[in-house]
Amino acid sequence: MEDHPLTILAIETSCDDTAAAVVRGGEVLSNVVSSQDVHNLYGGIVPELASREHVRGIGPIVRAALHDASCAMDHIDAIAVTYGPGLAGSLLVGVHMAKGLAVRFQRPIVPIHHIEAHLYSGYLEHPSLPYPSVCLVVSGGHTSIFRIDSPTSYRILGSTRDDAAGEAFDKIAKLVGLGYPGGPHVDRLARAGNPERFQFPRGLRDTSDDDFSFSGLKTSVRREVDRLRATGATLPLEDICASAQRAIVDILVQKTMRAADREGVRAVVIAGGVSANSELRARMQEEADTRSIAFVAPRMDYCVDNAAMIGFVAALRVTRGECTTELYPPSFTISPRALRADVTA
Ligand code: KG4
Ligand code: ZN
Repeated sequence: MEDHPLTILAIETSCDDTAAAVVRGGEVLSNVVSSQDVHNLYGGIVPELASREHVRGIGPIVRAALHDASCAMDHIDAIAVTYGPGLAGSLLVGVHMAKGLAVRFQRPIVPIHHIEAHLYSGYLEHPSLPYPSVCLVVSGGHTSIFRIDSPTSYRILGSTRDDAAGEAFDKIAKLVGLGYPGGPHVDRLARAGNPERFQFPRGLRDTSDDDFSFSGLKTSVRREVDRLRATGATLPLEDICASAQRAIVDILVQKTMRAADREGVRAVVIAGGVSANSELRARMQEEADTRSIAFVAPRMDYCVDNAAMIGFVAALRVTRGECTTELYPPSFTISPRALRADVTA
């Protein structure tokens, strides 16, 4: 690979955000995301609609990313794209766009694992953050704890056995009649509520592993809501939200910090949409402070699904020579369910 920092066009379409970015070395030159509002009507992501929206959006989004970075395709050295995990029909749109550009402009293509990109989003914003670290990836699709040892070495410590934490926020919000996505609504209402009023379960609190479970919480909230509705009383929305949020945050903080202690890490990172949660951020910061370790919750546009993190991880891998870019014809395929990167080229 060349000596000058590579300029990478990155594409991300794993779920319901159509995203493209241009990254040069560690620097983000542009980062464009279009979120698909069409799903709000249905209270959840409709895969078929997601891929259709990606088809509509991907061309203009790639053009916008190049424009914002003041780049033409001539300036692009390589193309990075998310190959998994995610929705098959969504992943295919980004991967086909990337392959089309690679063939047309004869550029190498770097397939990137979506969760790996989330893991390093803290390092994208804070390149001097120390290793090793523990990262909690917490979104509508994922709740997993990873140990990160270097720019290209990490391993999974634990994961949810059922729902993701974001899914729990969304389902609880739906139960009490709030909009989608539910996390921001619950976060807002919880600020005025009593988190001690309802004792909702903390799944797998007493197990020694780093796994999570949120299905019991959802059932418990549903029972409480049914009981309250049967009395004819108005739902105490703020208290329900505050108590449910407390249950989710308690277990996320407890298990992440226990893993951090056991692994002896120097930093804790949270990433994914749920890391926008105000209580989660505040509690993680407090716990990290008492341990005198660094804590990073990346800025929101790097926390949610975005292409800058895809380009950043591609640059890390390529410049360290730990990833051979695929030259035309690009032969890799999508991997909708892989929890950990099993493809390095
Ligand atoms: O990473 P993301 O944008 O998309 C994926 O799931 O891949 O995460 C979306 C999730 C949704 O479940 C949403 O309810 C949740 O993040 N979320 C929040 C907050 N903001 C977004 N959950 C709790 N508190 C928030 N402030
Ligand atoms: Zn994601």
